[in-house]
Amino acid sequence: MNEKQIIKALSKVNDPDLKKDLVSLNMIKNISIDNNVVSFEIVLTTPACPLKEQIKKDCLNELNKINNNLKYNITFSSNVVPFDKKTMIKNIKNIIAISSGKGGVGKSTIASNLAVGLSIMGAKTGLIDADIFGPSIPTMFNCENEQPTIKKTKEKNIIIPIEQYGIKLLSMGLLIPNNKAVVWRGPMASSAMKQLILDVEWGELDYLIVDLPPGTSDIHITLSQSFPVTGTVIITTPQKVSTNDAEKAISMYNQEQTNIPIIGLIENMSYFIDDNNKKNYLFGKDGGKTLCNKFSIDFIGQIPIDKRISDGSDLGYPIILKENKISNIFKTLSQNIARKIAINNSK
Ligand SMILES: Nc1ncnc2c1ncn2[C@@H]1O[C@H](COP(=O)(O)OP(=O)(O)OP(=O)(O)O)[C@@H](O)[C@H]1O
Ligand SMILES: [Mg+2]
Repeated sequence: MNEKQIIKALSKVNDPDLKKDLVSLNMIKNISIDNNVVSFEIVLTTPACPLKEQIKKDCLNELNKINNNLKYNITFSSNVVPFDKKTMIKNIKNIIAISSGKGGVGKSTIASNLAVGLSIMGAKTGLIDADIFGPSIPTMFNCENEQPTIKKTKEKNIIIPIEQYGIKLLSMGLLIPNNKAVVWRGPMASSAMKQLILDVEWGELDYLIVDLPPGTSDIHITLSQSFPVTGTVIITTPQKVSTNDAEKAISMYNQEQTNIPIIGLIENMSYFIDDNNKKNYLFGKDGGKTLCNKFSIDFIGQIPIDKRISDGSDLGYPIILKENKISNIFKTLSQNIARKIAINNSK
């Protein structure tokens, strides 16, 4: 078998999401043929791609059609697609906002687990706690007592983010003394938001997750008007008081002044699994799904109510770092979000 034959075979394999073949998409690299072993690399659009095994199977299927006496050594790497190469800020390929209408629905919990999840899968990930008035990320990452280093340069002071569990993170909570209520006017909050992106040494990031305060604020307006935001993931719980507020958030993102694409919606605290393994829908069933249907928004998934989730947040060790059914739910959600972004950015 020669390189030409390999390329011909692989040009019959489609990326299931991008609906084009791997060769046209420039996803095949480093082909080598050594005795009976054919090796090549597939460059994915996100390391969190859930379709690796399927792509590998499809490649082997086509290659074996030509020669099934050879060994095929397929490896994966990734090159995350940026939202917009032209307007990209620093080296941040994607900014993802986590938002909700109502407070306390699990934004910070989901933002933390999502950030760690993407990093576990191999993505360079950062996390900003933009909830200036009630930051919780420092607690969720067990770094309340750490102070980010400040690097003084001629032009301005540069903040070096804290590193924890494989991600770079920064919060207003780390820049202001503990328990000091922040009484800030809107413009100060806006300028703090800008500073958290522009005056920080983030390095190269595939994803920067921004944990937003609930509802609408100057911070939302600043983010949408000053930065190219890939999209937002909206969090709601199933009950009406939460979905009503989520509707308001959705209409805000659809307005010109605060326009941010909606990646999808996650329904948190969807059900509780009792000792008999029965799902109990404490806050009603499918409130999130119904909202998605109403506004033609993608439904990303559900998260149950589970004490291990809140314990993880309180102890400063996100549940996704453990191996259990709940952490698998968060891993699947992280993959689904990365996948949707890759599809949207490749269009
Ligand atoms: N699925 C869940 N199961 C159990 N507890 C949860 C779950 N999701 C969130 N919690 C807990 O609910 C509380 C609120 O969650 P969190 O702080 O993430 O919400 P939030 O939307 O960020 O709130 P705020 O609007 O105040 O920023 C936390 O104590 C968290 O640990
Ligand atoms: Mg929060």
